[in-house]
Amino acid sequence: MSTAADLSSFGLTGGSFITVLTGAGVSAECGIPTFRGAGGLWRTYRAEDLATPAAFSRDPRLVWEWYDYRRGICAGKQPNPAHNAITRLDGNLSNFLLMTQNVDDLHGRAGTGRLVELHGNLFRARCLECGAVDRNLPVPLLEIPPRCGCGGMLRPDVVWFGEALPEEAIRLASEASRDCDLMVVAGTSAVVQPAASMPLLARQAGAHVIEVNPDPTPLTPFVDLHLEGKAGEVMPGLVESILELVTP
Ligand code: OAD
Repeated sequence: MSTAADLSSFGLTGGSFITVLTGAGVSAECGIPTFRGAGGLWRTYRAEDLATPAAFSRDPRLVWEWYDYRRGICAGKQPNPAHNAITRLDGNLSNFLLMTQNVDDLHGRAGTGRLVELHGNLFRARCLECGAVDRNLPVPLLEIPPRCGCGGMLRPDVVWFGEALPEEAIRLASEASRDCDLMVVAGTSAVVQPAASMPLLARQAGAHVIEVNPDPTPLTPFVDLHLEGKAGEVMPGLVESILELVTP
């Protein structure tokens, strides 16, 4: 069956609530390494050794150097056709939410406004003393570790291993997962919680779920439709098919 034929059996209408969940695979075609694919090492460190509160208190300079390296890579990349297709959904649907595990800011730079960043954002920093959030640090940083106006040390405003996700982000994402009619899950290995349970919440609440990934994941057996391929190649056509069905 074709994608369009599958979609037309989902009963979508103009008022349907459509959500998208993305992971690192959506930015892979921009040249940003995924977490579990090749190229995830910096110097000799693994992400699991640097993205932790313990690593930061032991050596904030080292951890910031790694984040600044990643900020530099991401700042030099442009949103790809997958990011742009998702922005078209945001611009054309009355009920829409994107939840992303990505911290690279590419969805925001592509112009998607209704966006929940479950794991934070590489281009924000948070003061350990006063809690202020700084969105204007230069790339690359001028001082490492960077300091807040209050004199306190800033940390990257991202979620580290062993930390809870921001409460508001998880609330919005869980509610949208339960309420949506269709969830598109693109470019995630679907193994990191709680993001990985969002499609299952959606499924249990009666939504249809479509997965876009070149490889099968632990989620694949539970989805209505697995579209095998790269997000940048599959998402534009999928989005056009959805919009044809739900917009007059
Ligand atoms: P992973 O690196 O675990 O998975 C990337 C997924 O993208 C895999 O399933 C690939 O098959 C798929 N993929 C690769 N290229 C693709 C392409 N061009 N188009 C579509 N899919 C492609 O990344 P995430 O699932 O995002 O958390 O990882 C989840 C979380 O694990 C990250 O947010 C990070 C990490 O620990 C934190 O930092 C808190």
